[in-house]
Amino acid sequence: MREFILFSNRGRTKGDWKDLMAAGRMDIVCHSVIAAFFLSNAIRSDVKLNIILNGPPDPPKHIEFVYDEDLPISKKDVGNLIRSTLWKYKPKKKIKAFPGVFIEKKTLRKLIEEKESDEIYYLDKKGEDISKIKFGENPIFVFGDHEGIPKQEKRFLKKNATAISIGPNMYFTSQCISFLNIHLDRCFSKG
Ligand SMILES: C[S@@+](CC[C@H](N)C(=O)[O-])C[C@H]1O[C@@H](n2cnc3c(N)ncnc32)[C@H](O)[C@@H]1O
Repeated sequence: MREFILFSNRGRTKGDWKDLMAAGRMDIVCHSVIAAFFLSNAIRSDVKLNIILNGPPDPPKHIEFVYDEDLPISKKDVGNLIRSTLWKYKPKKKIKAFPGVFIEKKTLRKLIEEKESDEIYYLDKKGEDISKIKFGENPIFVFGDHEGIPKQEKRFLKKNATAISIGPNMYFTSQCISFLNIHLDRCFSKG
């Protein structure tokens, strides 16, 4: 299982929006969901995606996507799935909003602490070159959005994770996820 964690600096934490860009760049979140789960002719079953929304009015919200054969996901409508999930939030509980989609209140730091994994990476252009890393079977990757990973979260990640770079340019978050999916497919290909 590979796991992605996206920190959305301003992603809106209530479902009262229609415009993805105006909702704290929810378009980046939607593109990341598509890059994490969609193959041309299938949905990946080996991926977990965590999104921390840190925008108004009630941050943070943690939305977790895990493979479920009834996961109601369509490339055309990821925004509405996230919006409906936000409306189902209830304080002090982890709610199953839909098959494979969960929502709760949780910070990035708490989420990472709970993982108790020794294979956590954060994506940083200045990190160690990915070609030098030998991945285990359950790596966890943390990404920023268009604003990057904020200083306070980065300070925590520096102590608890390894910085890796996928190349010399600054890429979109969803491009990093696509690249990692393909890179890991190749690392673990049995062919
Ligand atoms: C659009 S970039 C963020 C740009 C933001 N202005 C900054 O300076 O961090 C989105 C995220 O993709 C990841 N990323 C982008 N390019 C990368 C690269 N070459 N190597 C590793 N991670 C990268 C980082 O996690 C970054 O936070």
